[in-house]
Amino acid sequence: MIEEKTSVDEIMKQAYRQGILIPAFNVAYIPMIKPIIESLKKHRTFGLVEVARPDVEKFGAGSFRKVAERYYALGERIFTRLHLDHVPVIDEDGKKVDWQYLIKLALELKFDSVMIDGSRLSLEENISVTKKVVELAHNCDVPVEAELGAVLGHEEGPLPPYEELFATKRGFTGIRETERFAKETGVDWLSVAIGNVHGAISGVAKDEKKISARLDIEHLKKLVEVSKIPLVLHGGSGIERSSIMQAIQNGISKINIGTSIRQAYESSLRSHPDDITIAQDKVGQEMERLIREYELEGSWDILGKCISE
Ligand code: 13P
Repeated sequence: MIEEKTSVDEIMKQAYRQGILIPAFNVAYIPMIKPIIESLKKHRTFGLVEVARPDVEKFGAGSFRKVAERYYALGERIFTRLHLDHVPVIDEDGKKVDWQYLIKLALELKFDSVMIDGSRLSLEENISVTKKVVELAHNCDVPVEAELGAVLGHEEGPLPPYEELFATKRGFTGIRETERFAKETGVDWLSVAIGNVHGAISGVAKDEKKISARLDIEHLKKLVEVSKIPLVLHGGSGIERSSIMQAIQNGISKINIGTSIRQAYESSLRSHPDDITIAQDKVGQEMERLIREYELEGSWDILGKCISE
């Protein structure tokens, strides 16, 4: 059974072994935390509540501290854990980020897992930064996610044409690099690029419907073979269902979903600016749709059985 004390590291390892997907939902605004937690509980789905630096800088998450305080104040941790999503070393606007400060802060705030994103660095630099974060976080028994390859979409301006990106495998996570990265860094989970792209976070594109992406499952199989750790799919909104179902069968253990629940929240708030509960309900409805679409209902029970065995 998954209990309060069960580590997210153990839960993710079980998900990896059993081929179960753990969804992680981005908090772009503090009031989204409540429906995220409630929806996971209602559907007995184990999932992560996560916040990334862009949620704080570009949307209304406020700060990592505010998210952690609200999450812990709600006091419902059985079905969820708190994850720190993207802390980039170089951000989407090309600015250097004080990643050491942010990672240490998250550890102090009792985030259950953290992500360092060195994907805009050279392979050597990415390995070096990730190793440092692994050392810091493992000292506190906190698992680390890193990124290798380029999950495009957070940068300002239009994406390169999607079909071209997919056909040329532009930004795809390299096979040999993955083998080396996993071995040398000791990282726990790895975010990979296999056709997935992030939803836009600036300009008019952030309010538009995201393009429908698909995944290169043959490429994924090769990454799974060499990495031997749970792999993560960023840019989870708007990926074709058949791709997601094949990705689950072939070694993706975590999916990050931001844009679709953020847009549900924001558009409802535009129509009903005085009633935040309507926007919160919309987040719950969108989560319900995703949980059903990816057949995640009851995943908490299945994972829990494996953990107690
Ligand atoms: P989407 O906004 O495209 O769902 O991606 C979310 C994400 O990957 C956050 O890390």
